[in-house]
Amino acid sequence: MDALEALQQRTASPRLVEPMPGADELEAIYKAGLRAPDHGMLRPWRFLVVQGEAREKLGQIFVEAMQPESEEQRTKLLNAPLRAPLVIIAVAEIQEHPKVPPVEQISAVAAAIQNMSVAIHALGYSSIWRTGSVAFHDGVKQSLGFKSHDEIVGLLYVGTPTVERPIPENNIEDYFRNWMG
Ligand SMILES: Cc1cc2nc3c(=O)[nH]c(=O)nc-3n(C[C@H](O)[C@H](O)[C@H](O)COP(=O)(O)O)c2cc1C
Repeated sequence: MDALEALQQRTASPRLVEPMPGADELEAIYKAGLRAPDHGMLRPWRFLVVQGEAREKLGQIFVEAMQPESEEQRTKLLNAPLRAPLVIIAVAEIQEHPKVPPVEQISAVAAAIQNMSVAIHALGYSSIWRTGSVAFHDGVKQSLGFKSHDEIVGLLYVGTPTVERPIPENNIEDYFRNWMG
């Protein structure tokens, strides 16, 4: 697929099933992620690739951290990682740097997620970038091996879409204007 076509036609898919990208395809997706811009070349990104039964363990981490009050909420958390065959957890491991504040390190990881989501689309699969309360919870970060000041920038759910979503219309003039000073 042409690069511009992939960029302009990527859509998120809330329902994702098998097949997921194979080993060579995943390597291509990871390479695309690692070509994100990165101020100071800090490489702040860490990616946890979660598939198969590990998704159930991730659901348990969500439950232990969030301490849901209802059975319905518990089931929702347990099932959350099962919404796709593959979940890539993208984390910014924040470093102290005189010129690169945390927001820029988080931005680099966000760019990596977007690069991967476009690559996933170009390979004929789909994804959805999700966060939610689990992404901001200290207990979840710690159970995954990170510190409180690190940021889970996104959970990228990856697989094959069950339905094609139409591409939302965008009016360029609503967002872009020439600025002449
Ligand atoms: C930082 C970030 C967090 C997001 N978190 C969620 C989320 O938790 N749940 C959700 O349904 N969509 C979330 N989204 C939005 C979807 O990824 C997606 O962009 C949205 O459904 C619109 O679809 P589109 O990307 O095809 O336009 C998030 C997007 C971003 C950039």
